[in-house]
Amino acid sequence: MGKIIAFANQKGGVGKTTSAVNVAASLGQLGKRVLLVDLDPQGNTTSGVGISKKALRCTTKTVILGETSAKEAIVPTAFDNLSVMPTNITLAGAEFDLYAGERAEYRLRDALAPLREEDAFDYIILDCPPSLGMLTMNGLTAADGVIIPMQCEFYALEGLSQLMVTISRIKQVCNADLMVTGILVTMYNGRLVLSLQVMHELKKHYSDKLFRTTISRGVRLSEAPGFGMPVFYHDKHAKGAQEYLDVARELLLRI
Ligand SMILES: Nc1ncnc2c1ncn2[C@@H]1O[C@H](COP(=O)(O)OP(=O)(O)OP(=O)(O)O)[C@@H](O)[C@H]1O
Ligand SMILES: [Mg+2]
Repeated sequence: MGKIIAFANQKGGVGKTTSAVNVAASLGQLGKRVLLVDLDPQGNTTSGVGISKKALRCTTKTVILGETSAKEAIVPTAFDNLSVMPTNITLAGAEFDLYAGERAEYRLRDALAPLREEDAFDYIILDCPPSLGMLTMNGLTAADGVIIPMQCEFYALEGLSQLMVTISRIKQVCNADLMVTGILVTMYNGRLVLSLQVMHELKKHYSDKLFRTTISRGVRLSEAPGFGMPVFYHDKHAKGAQEYLDVARELLLRI
């Protein structure tokens, strides 16, 4: 049965989308059938894999509101073994509707269930928005595992412990099986003293969760979404392309 992995962190701009897109594409390159679900109304994942956000009839929004099936909303990408459930800004309104409806946290989980039953994908990767609102709750309720991308910054550890508390609450209330698959350090610069200090703390408190691979800051990674491509397809020699492949290989050993 396919595994569902959410990329989540309530902090903005930490590399959730970059990691979700590039880990998904790397798993595809390694021969896994992958679905990338865009759970963020910003739609960065959608445009990041070359899908236009305009004129989308079926999106993550229509799926979680039960207006269309998950299957109807899935579109293939130009990349190996990679499909996407796209989204656009209309998802922001759906979050509000969700609060008013029943089984609000379970909408995505219920919608993805038929895909799991059919064994349509080996991995379903969820890109969550930068909040702990109902969309992220849906992601964490649907997921088997969560990957927490984070930067080695001053407030990062504080944010991480808040997120760990939220994850244990979700485990108690909506998804007993949820595991922290890993913590992934992004935009890493080992020449900065602060980065080294934060890394030291992470190793002290979360050594079993930390991915051995760290993602360096790199210009190819930041420009690839502008071309609507995962970094490997933009420049396969980029350091980030290799690093995300290494993360995908580590992931295969973990879940
Ligand atoms: N390793 C990296 N090297 C250089 N730039 C990066 C790297 N990772 C991400 N970025 C850039 O940093 C910015 C934030 O990254 P990204 O969009 O992946 O974060 P996010 O956590 O998904 O943000 P949001 O919270 O808004 O959804 C983007 O402009 C992205 O291109
Ligand atoms: Mg994002």
